[in-house]
Amino acid sequence: MIFISKIIQKYQPGQILEIGTAIGYSSLVMAENLKDKFRIDTVDASKPAVIEARGNIRKYNHSNSINVYFDKGINFLETTKNKYNLIFIDAKKEEYSEYYQLSKLRLKQDGIIVLDNLLWQGKVRQNKSFADKRVEILRQFDNDFLNDNSGKTKIYEIGDGIGVYLATNYVNENRHEFHK
Ligand SMILES: C[S@@+](CC[C@H](N)C(=O)[O-])C[C@H]1O[C@@H](n2cnc3c(N)ncnc32)[C@H](O)[C@@H]1O
Repeated sequence: MIFISKIIQKYQPGQILEIGTAIGYSSLVMAENLKDKFRIDTVDASKPAVIEARGNIRKYNHSNSINVYFDKGINFLETTKNKYNLIFIDAKKEEYSEYYQLSKLRLKQDGIIVLDNLLWQGKVRQNKSFADKRVEILRQFDNDFLNDNSGKTKIYEIGDGIGVYLATNYVNENRHEFHK
């Protein structure tokens, strides 16, 4: 969460979408790092998670600015009309490719996509096979992600591996320190 906090502090994205709410922890961390008026839409496919997240968000007085949706990530991305400054992808690993492609369509100009768990406990970069099929899925995804010329992409070896996509039309290169 330290890395995502730094990104939020630096860019101050006013409109955020998160795919994978869980109990609302990451949404609350992002909210705490935003200075001006903001809106966070966060989506989870688990009803118990949504209920718990809404309770936590109420407890920290962010119900007016954090909206928790009970939906599947792909469905939300396909149906929303909103555009976002930052999209944080942290849900089903098997669907990362779909989330990523759909997220690019929901991104405002100069937007950022952040993806968690791209190195999956370090297994993705080990030269051997694993029973967990998510390792191979993420290997393929990471390869496509790093070769995506529609923006600047990088995977940081922090935590479980964090991918950052910056739209190429990023106005002021000096504003970011993440892709040197
Ligand atoms: C790793 S947790 C998210 C953690 C959260 N972002 C945080 O850092 O506090 C992944 C979440 O994705 C949700 N999830 C799994 N499949 C999903 C799907 N198809 N669409 C949306 N959410 C999904 C799970 O219910 C789970 O709460």
